[in-house]
Amino acid sequence: MQFFPVLFSLLAITTTSVLAQSANIGAPADMTEVSAGSNFTVMIDRPDTLTGSTEVALVIALLSCASNPCPGPSEELGTVLYDGPFDPQFTTEPGTGSLPPHENFTLTIPSTFTKGQAQLGVAHFFLLGASVAPILETFNSTITHASYKEKWNAPRADKIAWIILLKKMGWIVLVPFVALLLLPPSSTMRLLSALFSLLAITTTSVIAQSANIGAPADMTQVSAGSDFTVMIERPDSLTSSTEVALVISLLNCPSSCPGPSVSLGTILYNGPFDPQFSAPEPGTDNLPPHENFTLTVPSTFTKGNAQLGVVHVYLLGLALTPELETFNTTIIVT
Ligand SMILES: *[C@@H]1O[C@H](CO)[C@@H](O)[C@H](O)[C@H]1NC(C)=O
Ligand SMILES: *[C@@H]1O[C@H](CO)[C@@H](O)[C@H](O)[C@H]1NC(C)=O
Repeated sequence: MQFFPVLFSLLAITTTSVLAQSANIGAPADMTEVSAGSNFTVMIDRPDTLTGSTEVALVIALLSCASNPCPGPSEELGTVLYDGPFDPQFTTEPGTGSLPPHENFTLTIPSTFTKGQAQLGVAHFFLLGASVAPILETFNSTITHASYKEKWNAPRADKIAWIILLKKMGWIVLVPFVALLLLPPSSTMRLLSALFSLLAITTTSVIAQSANIGAPADMTQVSAGSDFTVMIERPDSLTSSTEVALVISLLNCPSSCPGPSVSLGTILYNGPFDPQFSAPEPGTDNLPPHENFTLTVPSTFTKGNAQLGVVHVYLLGLALTPELETFNTTIIVT
């Protein structure tokens, strides 16, 4: 009876991806020419149908694809031109009443930016519907930069996959991989052990690159209406990454908690994340970079077990790949 779970997860994925096609680039049009060092306006539309959703953050970035095929913004964003809140509004200007809710961003192309085709990539982070599920979507268009167009090469999937892998995982991936190539082909056991160490390194670096809840401890009691401090830690290994936003939420769950990737509940914080080392004072020198948030449990919040859910969106590594991660702990509201 494996059929139904598979069908349902397939349905869930399909529904999510359909619903997630929420915002889009209203301007500039595809293949618009923009000169280096000049300003241009990017209009991001969010159709009015998404009334129940909550905006968190938007990233607009530019990546040269003059000599490589455009990888798509979910793989690589490139140079970040905007990283901040998104507040789509209807315009009040006469004659523009048919425009959907949108926001215009005036951005500048760095004067040193490579000429030719460039991917204008957008990462959009929002909380969907009544269940308040976190969604990270990406979309893009192509602009040409400066007053000439480079000849467009046919995409080379193998080349691009390697570039992305190297930029994401760094050169550490190469070491076990080269070892793997140097092994005699008959040596199956050595091949397998090399593969496992590659997997271990990959897994470790992915695990090491995630934030976590430093406080409160699991099953801490907090009374409704009172303040409590949430410490979010981000290991120092994430040095080359760029922060986008953080959401902290509370959901009453007497029996079992759904997890913050499914439902967040009441939003206690929605904004930027700026983890820092503590000022040198005795007893705090071992803390990783972190930020403390003083939040209030709503006075009407249902007593009992509650999921303290966190969503963290950041741009990973040198490729600036947009990543969404969720983590949680349980507190007891008294
Ligand atoms: C570009 O925009 C910035 C800020 O909006 C402004 O200070 C600057 O003068 C503009 N540059 C040009 C060339 O219009
Ligand atoms: C955004 O830009 C478009 C196109 O230039 C314009 O029609 C619209 O009124 C602008 N919206 C706002 C809110 O300024």
